[in-house]
Amino acid sequence: MYRETNFCIERIIFCVLMLISYYFNRLEAADTCNTSIFPSTFKFGAGTSAFQIEGGWNEDGKSRSSWDWLSNTYSIYLNNATGNVASDSYHQYKQDVASMVAMGLQNYKFSLSWSRILPKGLNYSINQAGVKYYHNLLDELEAAGIEPLVTIYHWDTPYALDLLGGWTNPKMVDYFVAYADIAFSLFGDRVKLWATINEPKSFCEGILSVLVNIFPELPIGTYEYLCGHYAILAHAKAYRLYKKKYQATQQGRVSLILNLSCNMGLTNSTADQEAAERKNLFEFGWFAHPIVYGDYPDIMQVVIANNSASQGFLISRLPKFTSSEKLLIKGAYDFIMVNTYTSYMVTMANYSNSPSYQNDLQTSTSQSSEWLSSGLSTLKVHPEGTRKVLKWISDTYSSPEIIITENGFSDNTAILNDTDRIRFINATLTNIRLSMCSDSVNVTGYFYWSLIDSMEWNNGYTVKFGLVQVDFDSENRTRTLKDSAYYYKNLIQTRLIIG
Ligand SMILES: *[C@@H]1O[C@H](CO)[C@@H](O)[C@H](O)[C@H]1NC(C)=O
Ligand SMILES: *[C@@H]1O[C@H](CO)[C@@H](O)[C@H](O)[C@H]1NC(C)=O
Ligand SMILES: *[C@@H]1O[C@H](CO)[C@@H](O)[C@H](O)[C@H]1NC(C)=O
Ligand SMILES: *[C@@H]1O[C@H](CO)[C@@H](O)[C@H](O)[C@H]1NC(C)=O
Ligand SMILES: *[C@@H]1O[C@H](CO)[C@@H](O)[C@H](O)[C@H]1NC(C)=O
Ligand SMILES: *[C@@H]1O[C@H](CO)[C@@H](O)[C@H](O)[C@H]1NC(C)=O
Ligand SMILES: *[C@@H]1O[C@H](CO)[C@@H](O)[C@H](O)[C@H]1NC(C)=O
Ligand SMILES: *[C@@H]1O[C@H](CO)[C@@H](O)[C@H](O)[C@H]1NC(C)=O
Ligand SMILES: *[C@@H]1O[C@H](CO)[C@@H](O)[C@H](O)[C@H]1NC(C)=O
Ligand SMILES: *[C@@H]1O[C@H](CO)[C@@H](O)[C@H](O)[C@H]1NC(C)=O
Ligand SMILES: *[C@@H]1O[C@H](CO)[C@@H](O)[C@H](O)[C@H]1NC(C)=O
Repeated sequence: MYRETNFCIERIIFCVLMLISYYFNRLEAADTCNTSIFPSTFKFGAGTSAFQIEGGWNEDGKSRSSWDWLSNTYSIYLNNATGNVASDSYHQYKQDVASMVAMGLQNYKFSLSWSRILPKGLNYSINQAGVKYYHNLLDELEAAGIEPLVTIYHWDTPYALDLLGGWTNPKMVDYFVAYADIAFSLFGDRVKLWATINEPKSFCEGILSVLVNIFPELPIGTYEYLCGHYAILAHAKAYRLYKKKYQATQQGRVSLILNLSCNMGLTNSTADQEAAERKNLFEFGWFAHPIVYGDYPDIMQVVIANNSASQGFLISRLPKFTSSEKLLIKGAYDFIMVNTYTSYMVTMANYSNSPSYQNDLQTSTSQSSEWLSSGLSTLKVHPEGTRKVLKWISDTYSSPEIIITENGFSDNTAILNDTDRIRFINATLTNIRLSMCSDSVNVTGYFYWSLIDSMEWNNGYTVKFGLVQVDFDSENRTRTLKDSAYYYKNLIQTRLIIG
């Protein structure tokens, strides 16, 4: 009897304690979700990529990358620009870190140049001078207390591997994993956040608008999906390798970076809403479904098989994963990383029977004339889109942790009093904080693109995203902080979205 009463009392006390703690936790949750202030754990950073900033394209044993070849052979398609000097960060990396210190940056995302570390692309010969460059950069960052997020591959394939077919070659999976292995072993003691591959959609599909001018015979409609398939497998194998070989000692986290714009139905009609969902699945689901759920989205499998058949292909242009590959890829991520810039209104387009990703996607897009223009005609400003993108990812992939790894505003002049950029960052962060508080999306970081003005791929040097201006006419590529850098500094310090 006594024991039973005692047990009962204990339970009551336990329940009361639970209720009290629940109540206080709720209060704390409501309190921390003040929409005008970011939590102290939220990572504010900025990013760059190797080809776009480093220059030193043929120095100290580095060989050509796909982009060195492209820009030195066909710069006519890139606004007559090369990345041979770019922002000269191969020599000016100390200035870059000084800029980061001046703006109180806590996180820096940069990428490794594969052909600087492995000039032949393969792992049998490592270029020590190239390795030294990244050790030097990491030394500077460590001294400044800046946490790195390192992208292993940001589009600059060693040209040697492009001659073997690049990402359409199944062997590319092993070549990439061998390279990632070297990156983990060399730098993993100091790098705890890893992105294997950046925006596969861009180098598998987006680049075609340039490549078809050079290679009219390119098998469009097949190229995109072979490239995407091996990129997914390469990421997943590198992820598994890290977990097996490095996780216990290095304690880092690994994922890949995907690109998604905000896709909204042109109207509220069911057909347009479905068109927007279809675009999300073709754009983001193409890679995220395999990594999260173990296979391509159903709609891609059905549509591409059907279109392939009516085009005379005997098998679908979309490759299939074997059952062991499905096990390999499913769950191969520690969090989700997304690059997002703009929004589109989406509606279905008419079917065209020539094979291509775009014809499989079969949507047409438009943008509102009310959205502010930027330095790139395709990237109109619609900060509310960021919140919708985050909600879609969170709803579709079971509320993962999300880091925004690219988002930014460009102009064509690199003006220092860049009020439009400040408004853009402020409005985007306002929407991100709303997403965290009102939509319960778990966003843990934001990396502005880009830290410094750089070589913007096919736009050359005509488009400037930087928080820091680079004078491309000066011998030393002089760096000057823009007003947005000071705005960002204050925001990082106070964590407040300022009125
Ligand atoms: C949100 O935080 C700011 C800054 O700490 C504070 O001034 C404001 O009163 C808070 N708002 C609410 C609703 O608690
Ligand atoms: C690139 O250079 C060529 C030859 O000098 C010139 O005709 C063309 O207009 C240039 N293109 C751009 C975008 O500057
Ligand atoms: C190179 O990669 C192969 C696997 O492709 C691996 O067995 C070998 O250990 C790697 N060598 C070095 C030096 O990392
Ligand atoms: C992201 O994806 C969209 C849609 O595919 C594309 O238009 C845009 O150029 C991409 N952005 C970047 C920075 O690659
Ligand atoms: C779509 O519906 C929402 C709410 O249901 C409404 O606010 C919005 O104006 C509608 N949009 C269009 C384009 O009709
Ligand atoms: C299958 O392809 C035909 C064209 O050959 C098209 O009319 C039909 O809508 C497609 N079905 C699906 C589900 O995509
Ligand atoms: C599709 O084709 C029909 C008939 O040719 C045409 O009226 C319509 O405008 C087209 N739709 C689009 C989105 O191009
Ligand atoms: C967000 O994700 C991080 C990392 O997985 C986790 O520690 C944290 O509890 C999550 N926060 C919320 C609110 O779910
Ligand atoms: C920026 O400064 C320039 C030169 O001082 C001036 O002409 C321009 O109006 C300013 N722009 C803004 C947005 O303040
Ligand atoms: C460029 O930098 C080098 C080394 O830091 C220095 O010696 C040189 O004076 C600089 N040149 C200019 C034009 O600033
Ligand atoms: C930033 O956004 C807030 C709304 O969250 C607005 O009140 C404020 O005026 C904006 N500040 C700047 C500098 O644009």
